[in-house]
Amino acid sequence: MYEVIERRMIVPNLHEFTVRAPAVARSVKPGQFVIVRPEENGERIPLSVADWDREAGTVTSIFMQVGASTAKLARLKPGQTIPTYAGPLGRKTDIENFGTVLLVGGCYGIGSIYPVARALKEAGNKVYTFLEARGSFLLYWEDKLAAASDGMFIATRDGTKGRKGHIADMPAMLSAAGITPDRVIVNGCTFLLMRTSELTRPLGWKTVVNMNPIMIDGTGMCGVCRVSVGGKMKFACVDGPDFDGHEIDWAEFLARRKSYGPEEVDPLRRSSCASHF
Ligand code: FES
Repeated sequence: MYEVIERRMIVPNLHEFTVRAPAVARSVKPGQFVIVRPEENGERIPLSVADWDREAGTVTSIFMQVGASTAKLARLKPGQTIPTYAGPLGRKTDIENFGTVLLVGGCYGIGSIYPVARALKEAGNKVYTFLEARGSFLLYWEDKLAAASDGMFIATRDGTKGRKGHIADMPAMLSAAGITPDRVIVNGCTFLLMRTSELTRPLGWKTVVNMNPIMIDGTGMCGVCRVSVGGKMKFACVDGPDFDGHEIDWAEFLARRKSYGPEEVDPLRRSSCASHF
């Protein structure tokens, strides 16, 4: 059993979730994920890792409450235990000195982009972070990200922080600051991954997206997480979750998500991420 150290709503519908899992904390890397179950025989939920403390043996994720299983996670209190906390899973995000890297984060991806920023900064990159949200009330971890970045850009749809706008304004904001990234890395909802890839393709900016398909086993056995990348079938859980955003068959990916029915799609449509697309 794994002890819940912290579970708190940090902005509406998004929860910071810290669990004591020393084996995961010892080896986890940026871009990886864990699979959790809030109770025996419960649904397996993949959560991107957003931070960790190797000494304390704790791992932190940010999750969105979208259905029955995440509602159970959202009711957990410090001191309670969960039966499953499997990981670290997936391949780590490529970290090397690329030069100038733009990190794009929205929703739960604001959390999971943080260890990527930290690692890229340590590798000697110029790191710029672009956060997108419906309003300032949905932003979090700005201080942590600012500390790991050389510059921050924020766009909110209601204009309550940064530029009034959204991801479509990102190229103009970068251009005005004289920044041309050598690589773009995006964490967040499917729409943010897809839209950023569409924007960067004509600009020729290599774009890596941290995919978030539905998963069951997380170890390459069930096939549920398959994604077409460059015409080849890949499993996000073992071949990813990072892929080249310009090679993803986005139409197929969105159709696959729909095939899982209203239980998955409707919460996504209602989410703050999707509302402006
Ligand atoms: Fe089953 Fe990836 S989650 S193959």
